Amino acid sequence: MTSLLVTNIGELVTWDDERPVIRDAALVIEHGKVTWLGDRTAAPDADAVRDVSGAAVIPGFVDSHTHLVFAGDRSVEFEARMTGRTYEAGGIRTTVAATRAATDEQLAANVARHVAQMRAQGTTTIEIKSGYGLTVRDEARSLAIARQATEETTFLGAHVVPEGSDVVAYIDLVTGAMLEACAPFARWIDVFCEEGAFGADQARAVLEAGTAAGLQPRIHANQLGPGPGVQVAAEVGAAAADHCTYLDDADVGALADSGVVAGLLPGVEFSTRSPYPDARRLIDAGVTVALATDCNPGSSFTSSMPFCIALAVREMGMTPLEALWSATRGGAFSLRRDDVGHLAVGAKADLVVLDAPSHVHLSYRPGVPLAVPLGT
Ligand code: NIG
Ligand code: FE
Repeated sequence: MTSLLVTNIGELVTWDDERPVIRDAALVIEHGKVTWLGDRTAAPDADAVRDVSGAAVIPGFVDSHTHLVFAGDRSVEFEARMTGRTYEAGGIRTTVAATRAATDEQLAANVARHVAQMRAQGTTTIEIKSGYGLTVRDEARSLAIARQATEETTFLGAHVVPEGSDVVAYIDLVTGAMLEACAPFARWIDVFCEEGAFGADQARAVLEAGTAAGLQPRIHANQLGPGPGVQVAAEVGAAAADHCTYLDDADVGALADSGVVAGLLPGVEFSTRSPYPDARRLIDAGVTVALATDCNPGSSFTSSMPFCIALAVREMGMTPLEALWSATRGGAFSLRRDDVGHLAVGAKADLVVLDAPSHVHLSYRPGVPLAVPLGT
């Protein structure tokens, strides 16, 4: 079989400028790519036909921020937070200890399990960070394992200063021997710029060293309080500043002017019982917004993009269509990808069929497994 016609699509979300949403649509796939799309009645013939009975079809979700290489469990911390404890970045060290103690096979099996859960919920592109190894050996093997699952791998040696290390010596390691060992397995360099993690100068040093080693910068910024992270992102030309929960007007202006994508991760605010970022303010200021899960065992242990969409609509002032855009096209912008996150002729045919007539159901029916990749 060389061509497949997907037809009787009740609502096709393409993100094309002219026709971002087409009703009563069809689409043709050849060799994994979209070769035609438009009105159902104008569809060409194909070798095979799949009738989706009026369902909505959307581009697969692009989850531009995850920390899937880890071992251990921190449900006790979550339980404590639900009785009033606050989230602390230092909890990362608990996962570091468990990750270092795990074998490569155990870590790879964990990644594969989470990736399978993501795919089953409609995610077709996944970014994965290191950051729970924090030694040369453990960061490098984390990235080698992540690379087996995705091309979108991120070196986050600068997640926190590991127990027993001095911050200056640790930054030297991250920007020296650790970077050298990790760069072959990574596309991106990231740093957690936050009180209790790394300051502006340290973040700049990490991102500049990574850039010199051929990686592209992205950053964890303004998650737990106001801080310099977003400004650093704009200065170094980062692809994305993720979290963006505590922003002042200058931060919002810097994001809009620089084109740095603001990655919003509402699973974090859900799981840490914190105020959600103001997506409406960012969109109204002209900032490009991505939505991602931040899947990790400490601050956001969800792998569900539909759950994040529902939170963004219910809690962050996004319309259902804006939230879907941010979870697909916005994620692709965050990863500087043009082949995913939308459905255009030439794009990857990462189609997700909803068990629903429209994308609105993703937030209207939270927790219901509506999004299923085509072919499964
Ligand atoms: O994105 N912010 C830093 N890192 C993760 C949290 C990691 C953890 O608590 O284990 C995040 O929220
Ligand atoms: Fe994160």
